[in-house]
Amino acid sequence: MVVPESQEKMYYPPVELQRNAHVPDFNSYLVMYKKSLENPEAFWREVADEFFWKKPATGPMLQHNFDMTKGNIFVNCMEGAKTNMCYNVLDRHVKEGKLGEKVAYYWEGNSPDHHMTITYRQLLSHVCRCANVLKQMGVKRGDRVSIYLPMIPELIVTMLACARIGAVHSIVVRKVTFNHPMPRDKGQDKVLCVYGVYRGEKLINLKQISDEALEKCREKLLLVMGLSPWNMIPRKSCPMSCHIQKHARPRLSQSERDVWWDEVMRDSPDECEPEWMDAEDPLFILYTSGSTGKPKGVVHTVAGYLLYTSLTFRYVFDHHPDDVYWCTADIGWITGHSYITYGPLANGATSVLFEGLPVHPHVGRFWEIIEKYKVTKFYTAPTAIRLAEHQILGTVGEPINPEAWRWYHEVVGQGRCPVVDTFWQTETGGHVLTPLPAATPLKPGSATFPFFGVEPAILNEHGEELEGVTEGYLVFRKPWPGIMRTIYKNQELFENTYFRKFPGFYVTGDGCRRDKDGYYWITGRIDDMLNVSGHLMSTAEVEAALMLHQSVSEAAVVSRPHKVKGECLYCFVTLKDSKEFNCKLVEDLKRLVREKIGPIATPDFIQNAPALPKTRSGKIMRRILRQIARNEKDLGDLSTLADPKVVEVLFNQRSEAA
Ligand code: PRX
Repeated sequence: MVVPESQEKMYYPPVELQRNAHVPDFNSYLVMYKKSLENPEAFWREVADEFFWKKPATGPMLQHNFDMTKGNIFVNCMEGAKTNMCYNVLDRHVKEGKLGEKVAYYWEGNSPDHHMTITYRQLLSHVCRCANVLKQMGVKRGDRVSIYLPMIPELIVTMLACARIGAVHSIVVRKVTFNHPMPRDKGQDKVLCVYGVYRGEKLINLKQISDEALEKCREKLLLVMGLSPWNMIPRKSCPMSCHIQKHARPRLSQSERDVWWDEVMRDSPDECEPEWMDAEDPLFILYTSGSTGKPKGVVHTVAGYLLYTSLTFRYVFDHHPDDVYWCTADIGWITGHSYITYGPLANGATSVLFEGLPVHPHVGRFWEIIEKYKVTKFYTAPTAIRLAEHQILGTVGEPINPEAWRWYHEVVGQGRCPVVDTFWQTETGGHVLTPLPAATPLKPGSATFPFFGVEPAILNEHGEELEGVTEGYLVFRKPWPGIMRTIYKNQELFENTYFRKFPGFYVTGDGCRRDKDGYYWITGRIDDMLNVSGHLMSTAEVEAALMLHQSVSEAAVVSRPHKVKGECLYCFVTLKDSKEFNCKLVEDLKRLVREKIGPIATPDFIQNAPALPKTRSGKIMRRILRQIARNEKDLGDLSTLADPKVVEVLFNQRSEAA
């Protein structure tokens, strides 16, 4: 890595920002980065020193094995230490840091009329009460609790209440019900949800969805919280109650199982001794798409995740005590876990928590909220930027990424705000390739350089490391504290997915290019995964959903570039004999995928495929399907195809209907 001397247009950090920054220039970054790799023990110990440890570590800061040929894959951070995540992100600030009256969250509802403010002290009190409620319900250390809540303060309260009593939370992503199902396996799960929630104008009945999911699981309890539209008491006047007034409550279908939030919270004591957890105890499970189509429960643990989310938040957003920070992600995704809940709270930050949509009740809602709360740090997804850019400037055209970057920088940031393009994954726990705002000269579209303690490498197909300007598989040589520890109840899948291909390395599944200045550029997934509007899904799960239709005998799904979503789904379906391909079928298939996976997975294109291009051994050649979807006629070598005529037929029947 060298100090960049590129001739191409670079965006340098503003001098005003550098004056007061944690990492004020590129050289400081290089010095700290070097230290983090050369002496990780000292580097991470210093980070750990600011947190509370009931018992200090007896082992090193980080131990690991990334080589399957040498034994089981493991990462171990701070062996022997005992601590509590909730204590560190709340009690520590209230009791030791005198931040009790500081605002932890400005909550802004789906409707601009609904908003409330929660201080660190109030948050702690609610968390303790909720922790006692959970205990009362029989939740014990190590139990799993599924949470099915929208972006309301109670979601953060329940996450932290779990962390306080040592229960493992598993947040069910609202939008993707098939992909991230309610737990159906045997376990000690308790489930929390709300009755219903408005998304924009649309009411979503979460309770009904949960009831359906829980039908067969008698042992589970459901804690129901009422919410709008049934006479929500304005949060302004009645923080954290948001209950449905008695007379307006819908009847509970499962009255022995379900309880109302406000009723149980009201009488619950607001003190609760934290459970002192081992450093490597699980903190949460979060489901992400697996390339086989089956979701994987990524497990993160207490101490390492605390250190890593806290440090990345501080440096990547150059956090200062008077900042107002806003991350627009949903807490149901890793971004929300790391950079709405844990990272910001560990730093005593003030955040905006937004329940609604960027376009409701009007397209300027994002910018209105930024004005309202005087947001100083804003973290959002490229899809949201592209959406806003199109709406405001009405531009079209491809490729969109560098344009969207410049628009964000120049129009939204008025050229004064660095754009930090952070690369990471559910599995990495926190940012792994990222600029630091006052230190790193930016190139639009590049996630720039590794964060402290992260050692990337680029490998070729044979696992050989490529030096200098190159492109290949992005891998990491060593762990950092926040990396995943396993896949829930499936260590074998964990090892096979991330470590089998290249022994000694964590394999991200992404392709990556390194330029002459050492900048890293993510080129996208190189496995069977798709990224639609920032949501990862596997081709296999969409194919499985299509195959549920009685007319379909075979399906193959590929990605096609999309100017707002980044990528969209292009599906090829082969029908059973005598079945007819028509508009109704296309609509039925779209609806099926939508129902089974979620709206995000709705296919943009469905094409009739009398046959699919296959190798002689019967393997579908997705490369060719991708080219057909993109209308790229230069197909290269087709000699491995069993029947080359199939390709011509598919080109002739291309679907252009959105
Ligand atoms: O393909 C990469 C893409 O998103 C994947 C991870 O998705 P998920 O686990 O859902 O986590 C999303 C939030 C961190 C990666 O394998 N990705 C993530 N960040 C970037 C990215 N692609 C390009 N640039 C990024 N900054």
